Amino acid sequence: MALSDLLLLGREADLGSERGVSCTGQLPAASDPSLVARAKAARETLGDRVLVLGHHYQRDEVIAFADITGDSFKLAQAAAAQPTAEFIIFCGVHFMAESADILTSPEQKVILPDLAAGCSMADMATLNQVNECWKVLEELGVADKTIPVTYMNSSAAIKSFTGKNGGTICTSSNAARAMRWALEQGEKILFLPDQHLGRNTAVASLGLSLADCVLWNPWKPMGGLTAQEIKAAKIILWRGHCSVHGRFTIDAVNEVRTRIPGVKVLVHPECQYEVVSSADVVGSTEMIVRTIEAAPTGSAWAIGTELNLVQRLAKNHPDKTIVFLDKTVCYCSTMNRIDLPHLVWAMESLVNNHLVNQIRVPAEVAKFSKIALERMLALP
Ligand code: 13P
Ligand code: SF4
Repeated sequence: MALSDLLLLGREADLGSERGVSCTGQLPAASDPSLVARAKAARETLGDRVLVLGHHYQRDEVIAFADITGDSFKLAQAAAAQPTAEFIIFCGVHFMAESADILTSPEQKVILPDLAAGCSMADMATLNQVNECWKVLEELGVADKTIPVTYMNSSAAIKSFTGKNGGTICTSSNAARAMRWALEQGEKILFLPDQHLGRNTAVASLGLSLADCVLWNPWKPMGGLTAQEIKAAKIILWRGHCSVHGRFTIDAVNEVRTRIPGVKVLVHPECQYEVVSSADVVGSTEMIVRTIEAAPTGSAWAIGTELNLVQRLAKNHPDKTIVFLDKTVCYCSTMNRIDLPHLVWAMESLVNNHLVNQIRVPAEVAKFSKIALERMLALP
């Protein structure tokens, strides 16, 4: 079947700015008892034409149908390494689907089962704000010594800015390598948009101090900094954060250590500096999964990351004590938007030759975003 025969339904997202939900009224009911059977049937009919990617934070009901599960780095690699699948159904959030679209061939179509699955951190850096910041760096004569390092959790427009200005993308699993690379290319880093990942990596892996970092507030003139502070800084951190990981507290770390003697605290590097520096192990979601898999029977772990993943790890490792680090933190609401009804809807639509919720990054944005993403994939 020619792709041109496909009827395009749903709204196409542009640059991460559209958050419309296009499937209202067409979704199977969540209570439909045949949902699992419908998902299996659609998956079987689609066969090799479809690759389903599932981020570790997805619900179990979605992970059950993922061909590959992983963190954002592993899934970006998986998308780039799949030249044959006609459709990639990305069960994750919008910026991940955009990256998959950039890294796949123009013939391949990337689908996000619910367009409302965004990321609040990615929304904390807009292109206008980043351009303003860069203009200030240019006026101060430091832009040509500054290398942008942009976390995967960003819009394609910010990735394109990064590629254009000699920078690289990073994920939580390669931020240290990306920042070391950047300091070989220039003298300073503009780290976008997660202040915590940037700060934690600069201090724990690059041997820099907190005093080497400044925080750029996009809502204040000159980022709320003086010219002298900007000139002296080694790392300019963007004032963005994850609304899930940013909520874990040092009190929760202390409380769990008292409650479960011998417990090891394992957290994602998007957590605050105080939490990360008091943890026993810090790593990306894939690293968290591997750490628990390799842990000895009887060991105890308090995990500071998204709840779906922690619950799955506890269920899959009953021989270990696994608890959620902080009672006040909950699911990532946007990751959770992808559920079985949306996945069934996306797959059954394809079976019926309807392409829905395609994520398409415009060619001029994709060009430089791809350069930045490929720099990351080529990091040693
Ligand atoms: P990973 O890079 O570990 O997949 O994390 C992505 C993310 O969104 C964490 O909040
Ligand atoms: Fe974004 Fe945080 Fe959700 Fe990850 S967990 S997708 S950074 S809001």
